[in-house]
Amino acid sequence: MQTLETLNQRTAIRTYTGEAPREAALATIMQAAQEAPVAMGQFANYHLTVVREPAVLQAIEAAGTKQFGREHMLYGAPVFVIVSAKSAHEALTSAEYSSAAIIVHNMALAAVDQGVASCYIWGVIAALNQTPEALAKLQLPNGFTPVCGVTLGASTQAYAPRPVNAAKIATTQL
Ligand SMILES: Cc1cc2nc3c(=O)[nH]c(=O)nc-3n(C[C@H](O)[C@H](O)[C@H](O)COP(=O)(O)O)c2cc1C
Repeated sequence: MQTLETLNQRTAIRTYTGEAPREAALATIMQAAQEAPVAMGQFANYHLTVVREPAVLQAIEAAGTKQFGREHMLYGAPVFVIVSAKSAHEALTSAEYSSAAIIVHNMALAAVDQGVASCYIWGVIAALNQTPEALAKLQLPNGFTPVCGVTLGASTQAYAPRPVNAAKIATTQL
């Protein structure tokens, strides 16, 4: 798929059949994560966790339910890739949050290219970070904190060309 087509067709998909992405598609999506830029080129400050284990997915969803009273904040997706970051300072900075977001966005765009449904996930990450027993299941290296993630899987919803309002985000021309 061409780049501009990919940008146009990308959309957050929140319905999953439960079927996992093909291994080759998942590998392509993970490669896209590796192709992302990060602040200062400090790649060692980021960590990817590919969660397919149903018990871990359930523990993350349960943390969301406990904290927000919402069920299935991962929408039953069979794969959840989490981007964690380690601060070069005392706390995570906007550069680290932004880098994690760009990594996720690269994966989301690659998912469109591969015909794999995906959705950006920030909400349940907040609950995960407040739930030590769920966090421990990620086996993160020391010092890393989950920042965001992307759900991946098959869906009955297909990507398709979509009209996008050119004034959706207010713009000032100077
Ligand atoms: C930073 C960020 C955080 C988001 N967090 C969530 C989330 O936790 N759960 C969710 O279902 N969607 C989440 N989304 C998806 C947005 O709701 C969605 O991208 C937005 O409504 C625009 O729709 P579109 O992606 O279909 O164009 C997030 C998107 C971004 C960019």
